[in-house]
Amino acid sequence: MRLAILGGGGFRVPLVHRALLGDTLRPGGAAISEVVLYDSDACRLRAISAVLDQQRTAHRAAHGEPPLTVRALTDLDEALRGCDMVFSAIRVGGMPGRVLDERVALDAGVLGQETVGAGGISYGLRTLPVAELLARSIATNAPGAWVVNFTNPAGLVTEAMSEVLADRVIGICDSPLGLGRRAARAIGADPAGARFDYAGLNHLGWLTGLWAGGRDRLPELLADEGALDSFEEGRLFGADWVRAIGALPNEYLHYYYMAREAHAAVAETVAGGGPTRGEQLVAQQDTFYRAAAAHPDQAFELWDRARLERERSYMADSRRAAGDVQRSEEDLDGGGYEEVALAVMRAVARDEPARLVLNTRNRGAIAGLDGDAVVEVPCLVDGSGARPLAVGRLSGHQAGLVHAVKAVERDVIEAVRSGSRAAALRAFATHPLVDSVTTASDLLRGYLKAFPELRNTLPQP
Ligand code: G6P
Ligand code: MN
Repeated sequence: MRLAILGGGGFRVPLVHRALLGDTLRPGGAAISEVVLYDSDACRLRAISAVLDQQRTAHRAAHGEPPLTVRALTDLDEALRGCDMVFSAIRVGGMPGRVLDERVALDAGVLGQETVGAGGISYGLRTLPVAELLARSIATNAPGAWVVNFTNPAGLVTEAMSEVLADRVIGICDSPLGLGRRAARAIGADPAGARFDYAGLNHLGWLTGLWAGGRDRLPELLADEGALDSFEEGRLFGADWVRAIGALPNEYLHYYYMAREAHAAVAETVAGGGPTRGEQLVAQQDTFYRAAAAHPDQAFELWDRARLERERSYMADSRRAAGDVQRSEEDLDGGGYEEVALAVMRAVARDEPARLVLNTRNRGAIAGLDGDAVVEVPCLVDGSGARPLAVGRLSGHQAGLVHAVKAVERDVIEAVRSGSRAAALRAFATHPLVDSVTTASDLLRGYLKAFPELRNTLPQP
């Protein structure tokens, strides 16, 4: 089978490649025999190809020649033609675009974050036109392919792509699995054997059940102060709050539940002349891509160093706002993101049933939400795709947040479809983290100025 990775020059591609190489060693062999990396940026593609070459050399020394070829292309149609599976992991506007998403929001006095709040809306407005082009190109060049969407904001992008690709597009995120694993470890259960109940939208969900040894051990975890204090989300949200809601929130809910503190922490960093997260990553990645071009023989080492630095500093402002919550060593080694993608790939390609938390159209899984709204819930995945499992009704508070943010996503989709600035204004103004319509107008104006191409996306007043 042939896999195309769109955004093949992206920084996390070596993690996926490492997982694919690992897959070739499994009994029964690899599901994928050919990888095509597509990227519009030939320089990034070269740097990442150099990292992959070194991974392959190491693999060869330990296990012999891998039955997996890798090609790099800068022509999209050619990359897609004849492929059976697509991983879509693009970043429209690159990291510099992320910086503007963050900065315009911070200048307007609200949270500046990659996927949440005003920054996420801007990112969505910029990304959807490209995601829709990709979806159409996939439908033409690889109509039978399964698409795993990593592109953020992942829920919103998956929903927009699903209008073209229906249920052949499946969105993924590493954070539900990460949360489930940390929660399992906190009660001394084996994460690999545990089953997680989870419901919500991407970056807006809750772990509502933690099954190990045949029973739900979430109540026990919520009652155990020491266990809660032993992992990131337990410390981020605190025992009182997780008990009050009877569930463990995804780490991204810190931006909602501790909105003031989370915003203040970023604002404080920036006021002190410090970088936004995007600026931090621009610096890290520029250094990597430049050094890898100059020393391709050291590309892997350079990449691995930058990767570890990125993991260490992940969500640092939020963790500082919650009293210097540290990440655990297990979370620094990757394993989340690429593991979910590989698990989907295996389940679909080999028709090996798996239960995974994914982004798919709701189809009744969350009661009270439209059937075609993309949600993040446990799914049964096999050769026929991902079917969301019924999670029932959300609590009133959860449903309130989910419906509010889904309405924002729908306004973003409408804005891009119809070119309507009014719909874009509605998206900014009604987001739970934007507290004034006046601020929403400032945001829209600020983003239109920062991204001239948005004026083409949104020509209508
Ligand atoms: C997690 C999320 C991704 C997000 C990333 C940001 O992995 O699930 O959706 O893109 O964090 O991390 P970064 O290092 O780019 O700030
Ligand atoms: Mn994510």
